[in-house]
This record gives sequence, structure tokens and C-alpha cells, in this order.
Amino acid sequence: MTEKVSLSYKGKTYEYSTITGSENEEAFDISCLRRETGLITMDYGYQNTGSTKSSITYVNGEQGILRYRGYSIEDLAEKATFPETAWLLIYGELPTEEELTVFRRLLTENSLVHANLLHFFREVPPSAHPMGILSSVVNALGLFAPKYYDAETDASELELMITALISKIRTIAAFSYKASIGEPFVYPEANRSYCANFLNMMFSSHTKPYVVNPIMEKVLNTLLIIHADHEQNCSTSTVRMVGSSQANLYASVCAGICALWGPLHGGANQAVLETLIRVQKSGMTIKEVLEKAKSKEDPFKLSGFGHRVYKSYDPRAKILKGLMEKLFNEEDSQDPLIDIARELEHQALQDDYFIERKLYPNVDFYSGILYRAMGIPTNMLTVMFAIGRLPGWIAHWKEMHNDPQSKINRPRQIYTGPSQKKWIDRNLRG
Ligand code: CMC
Repeated sequence: MTEKVSLSYKGKTYEYSTITGSENEEAFDISCLRRETGLITMDYGYQNTGSTKSSITYVNGEQGILRYRGYSIEDLAEKATFPETAWLLIYGELPTEEELTVFRRLLTENSLVHANLLHFFREVPPSAHPMGILSSVVNALGLFAPKYYDAETDASELELMITALISKIRTIAAFSYKASIGEPFVYPEANRSYCANFLNMMFSSHTKPYVVNPIMEKVLNTLLIIHADHEQNCSTSTVRMVGSSQANLYASVCAGICALWGPLHGGANQAVLETLIRVQKSGMTIKEVLEKAKSKEDPFKLSGFGHRVYKSYDPRAKILKGLMEKLFNEEDSQDPLIDIARELEHQALQDDYFIERKLYPNVDFYSGILYRAMGIPTNMLTVMFAIGRLPGWIAHWKEMHNDPQSKINRPRQIYTGPSQKKWIDRNLRG
């Protein structure tokens, strides 16, 4: 029997049916609440509000579980490739060999951006933040698309548009880096994997030979898989919010990139590295960093710690920490930031403030150190997150479009401004 939730208000009782997910998560459906009671709900930051049903990603924050379409993040991170994972998220199943071959070919064939767009990279100031460049160029890609996605676009056109976007985002990221350091663009090469192609476009140059390190290629592959989706997070909800008005895919993804940029979300990876560098350079102690993070007078937060959903160790952080330890043993290289990060984690996890609030390292705590080992500059870390998250955004945008229950997203509010005022003629000029 389906459970009901009852609500008593002004002497009347109302009943609401419950919805149970495939992992026994429960909600109650209040879609007729206002019509029946005149009430709306208030939930700052949507801490308890479900915006949709979704079959893409499952997160269990208490037990530290993350699965894409049923597959554990641990298996995917170790055994899958990023293009395979992108396909899985977007189309619901792992690709067959034939599907993957076609997907790879289309990724290669659609990797270039329109030549007219190259002017943009050259004209923006070198100090421009790469997330601003990425969001602008992704939106501009739509201007060059023969047709925006709309209800009439057939499935194969949409598939091509999706593949082209996944391919071009890494070209845009690499070109923005080359433009910022004043070097000529390095074009994608057909015989390289998704990750090797990106590393080559970033670091190869006419004056310095560059050979893609297969270990770094594998690390990048894992990082992108780990970023690929995380259910209704801030940027994905933004993509769904914008897409709910039937805005096109490019505009919706552009909005998602902008939402990811903030330091409470994807921008935290840049903030983590900046904190570690600050400790290294200024001689600030770990204790001082933690005191600053705990102080209610100081807006500083310990980036890379805490999560809305995870109240245990973020499984993505666990994988990345293991990868970091392995990489720095295998490669016999060192980064002084690692010891600082390890000590920061150690002290935070023993501190009552962090214990009481269940604040653990999140995905952004160790990702920056791994990207740094590849040579990715600090201000591009969130761009890397965006490249990885793109398939997730697309999967959610597509799921929303295909869901007959979806509606334009339009929350309500409780108005707290002045009541109606009488207009008094003031006879002012201008
Ligand atoms: N440093 C210091 N205090 C913190 C931190 C932190 N990193 N995170 C949470 N708190 C405190 C917060 O001040 C609050 O304290 P109190 O109860 O005394 O008011 C308590 O812990 C609960 O935090 P909250 O801000 O109410 O939690 P939230 O769910 O609204 O925010 C968060 C989640 C991720 C925005 C937050 O933990 C945070 O700001 N972390 C640092 C930024 C960060 O690492 N973001 C990346 C998140 S993972 C990647 C992604 O998916 O975006």
C-alpha cells in the first residue's frame, strides 16, 4: 500500500501521496498543495526539494555511494573511458562496440571550431578568465550551428549536435589557453584519443616537442569520468532551469558553465589550490587556515571540504586521493602542495568543528593537485571540471526534454516588500 503524508492546516487535513525511487528514496508529492491549501513551501537553497525524477545518477550521501546508470563510480573510474561514460550517461546504456566506433569517429570529425570564432580567442585580453571564455564560445557555437535543437530536430541531428559539443569543448579550452600565453593554436589530430588530443592541443608547440605521457592521459580520463555527473547539483539544475523554457542546448550549457564557475561549486578546485599555495608561500600554518575557516566573522571557507549531499567521505575524493598517492609514487615526482593538502585533511578531520558538521574532503580537494601535475594552470581547473561535466548536463537536458511531466521551472516566493503605495506627483524634471 502506498504511504500517505497528511498535513493539517486551519482545521482541515490534506493527504499527499508518496513517491518511492528505485533505491527506496522517498518524497511526497505536493504539486497540488497551493491549489488545495493556498500554501507554498519555503526551502532556501532547495535543501529538501526534489525538482524531478531522474534515472541518470544515484548519490547516497550517508553511505558515500555514486553510480551512473547503475554502474559504480569506482568501476567506471578504473575500467571505462570518458567517451564510453559520456555515452552511458546520455543514452542510458554502455555503447556497443559499433556505437562506440561511430561515436569516436564523430568526436574526431567534429573537433574543430568555426574559423570565424578564432578571432574571439585572439581578441579577449590574456587576463580573461578561461571560464568566461568557455561559456561565451559555447554559446557562440550555437550561432554557427545549422539549426538549433527544437522539437522538430530529429534524433540523428540532435545526436550529432551533442557529439560535436562534447568534442569542441576541449578544443575551445585548449585554444583559450594557447591564446592566453600567446602561442599558435595546435589543432586536434584524428589518431589521438579524446584525452591525448586535449593534452596535445594544450602542451604541444612548434618549438618544444611534446609527447603525451600515457599515465597522465589515464589520470585525465579518470578525472573527467569523476566529474561527469552528480545529479541535481547547482550547474545541472541551472541547465535544466534554462532548458525548461525550451532554450537551445548551447544556451542551456552556457548557463551551466557560468553556474559551475562559482567557488561554492566547481570553482572550489581553483580555490583549494590557491589556499595550498598561500600556505606554501606565506608561511601561514594549517592551524591558522582552519581557524579562519571556522570563524563566523571571516567569509573564508575551507574549499574542497563539505558537501550538500555527502555527509561522509565523498567517493570521488577517495578515488582521487588514491590516484594522487599512486601517481606521485610511480612518477617519482614531488609537489610540495601534496604534503600541505595531506596535513590539512588530517587536521580538519580531527577538528570538532568539522566532525560535528560532517565536513569531509570533496571532489575538489585533490583534483587540483592532479591537474597541476599535468601542467594545467590554476585558473583552468574549473574549465576541466566543465569538460567532464558536459555529458551530465546534456543527459539531464535530454531527459527533461523527453519527460512528459516536465514544465517550465518557475518557483514561487513570499513577498516581503511594501504594500501598495499611492503615487504622489512630484513634478521633477528628467
Ligand atoms: N569550511 C568551513 N565551514 C564549512 C564548510 C567549509 N568548507 N562547509 C560547510 N561549513 C559549515 C557552514 O558554515 C555551516 O556551519 P554552521 O552550521 O555553524 O552555520 C555548516 O558547515 C553547514 O554548511 P552549509 O553551508 O549550511 O552547507 P551547504 O550544504 O549549504 O553547503 C557547500 C555545501 C559545499 C557549499 C559548503 O560545504 C562549502 O561552502 N564548501 C566549500 C566549497 C566547496 O568545496 N565546494 C565544492 C563542493 S563539491 C563540488 C560540487 O559538486 O560543486
